[in-house]
Amino acid sequence: MPADVVTMDKIVSLSKRRGFVFPSSEIYGGLGSSYDYGHYGVLLKNNVKDQWWRAMLQERDDIVALDSAIIQHPMTWQASGHLEGFTDPLVDCRTCKLRFRADKLEDSQCGRKPSVHPGESEACSLTEARAFNLMFETTIGPVKEEGSTVYLRPETAQGIFLNFRNYLQFSRKKPPFGIAQIGKSFRNEITTGNFIFRTREFEQMELEYFVPPEEAEQWFEHWLERRVDWYTALGIRPDHLRLRVHDPDELSHYSRATSDVEYLFPIGWSELEGIANRGDFDLTQHALYSGQKLEYVDTATGRRYVPHVIEPSAGVDRTMLAFLIDGYDEDELEGETRTVLRLHPLIAPIKVAVLPLVRRDGQPELASEVYRELRERVQAEYDEGGTIGRRYRRQDEIGTPWAVTIDHQTLADRTVTLRDRDSLAQDRLPIDALADEIERRLRAPWRSPKLDS
Ligand code: GAP
Repeated sequence: MPADVVTMDKIVSLSKRRGFVFPSSEIYGGLGSSYDYGHYGVLLKNNVKDQWWRAMLQERDDIVALDSAIIQHPMTWQASGHLEGFTDPLVDCRTCKLRFRADKLEDSQCGRKPSVHPGESEACSLTEARAFNLMFETTIGPVKEEGSTVYLRPETAQGIFLNFRNYLQFSRKKPPFGIAQIGKSFRNEITTGNFIFRTREFEQMELEYFVPPEEAEQWFEHWLERRVDWYTALGIRPDHLRLRVHDPDELSHYSRATSDVEYLFPIGWSELEGIANRGDFDLTQHALYSGQKLEYVDTATGRRYVPHVIEPSAGVDRTMLAFLIDGYDEDELEGETRTVLRLHPLIAPIKVAVLPLVRRDGQPELASEVYRELRERVQAEYDEGGTIGRRYRRQDEIGTPWAVTIDHQTLADRTVTLRDRDSLAQDRLPIDALADEIERRLRAPWRSPKLDS
């Protein structure tokens, strides 16, 4: 595999410079591991979510959507096992006073040897590990003492299980069928870091796919394959993706089998998405704690059963980070190093930039006309400031796949040049054909040019 020029520092710096992601609360000195998404970050993140919804809802007819509350009845977390079991082993270093996850000492923020005090050669004197629950607690009601304790959801999945009965009634679905949701989750992580890879507030894209028990394994395999295909169809390089089977001792409390889709981040192979066979754990637990029957009854055969659940669960922020990393590239152009995000056009925040070559001779007026027409169809941007070279570089850095240039010839014959971010080819075509051509290219199969470099 050729050496990649990308580093996490370059991604952090590009993200801030170009308005993808900002450290949160910066004017107050920042808040550890909190990030705000800027204009291009929002557009990119929306594209990731749109593509996930498309794969779940538009391209299939066995999945329906949900948007459940962040705060659920507190019994939810007793039944789900999160109150008891959603913990990380926490150790304190008596020497440096920092806290670490006992099972992830190697990845701890200090980045140095676990047995060594950060920055010094003295050995870290670690306390015994104690279980630390990752759920954020808050209170419902105006008076803290009298209110009831509730939790910010640490996964969106439970909202789906709580609605299982509603969906049997309203959607009349018969297993196998799925309920999908995208939303924020919260975890009071001990060890955060690596930019938006692990934060305390993040978005998840989760599918709970309900199946007859005897079909669980087959559907588990189905989803492993589908999810890897989703990433590669959106241009993630296949040699930077792999599936890793969990060892029995690392399985979550609800899981019978889990495989992670891992991406080769600059920090090494790390989880992008977990695909779990949750068996009948959740529905059985909620039935027990709520006293409600959570089962499927086949009216034709009279068979009743608690469906088993296959769960592909991905992080939006982590997926966005993988796209930024996978797309990041540098090349030589006109004697300068060009930074370019080689994003799949469907993921790119801006699809087309409209640029008048000069700011006179009627070019800005005609360019504005072209821009207004294009933005009816795709996310477009108009830019007339600075040299044409600088404006191309700016669009390359935010991953815009195409740029339309309006020049003196355009005024004579209403043709423009369409520049391709990756091949740098410039095609001349009539203004009237532009929108159709851009949409055609947007739907065409795409392959990362980094695979051929
Ligand atoms: N419902 C199953 C579940 O939540 P998980 O493996 O804990 O499983 C699924 O989380 C995905 O959510 C992960 O693969 C990751 O992409 C994302 N994720 C989890 N914790 C995260 C965090 N602290 N920051 C960012 N993303 C996170």
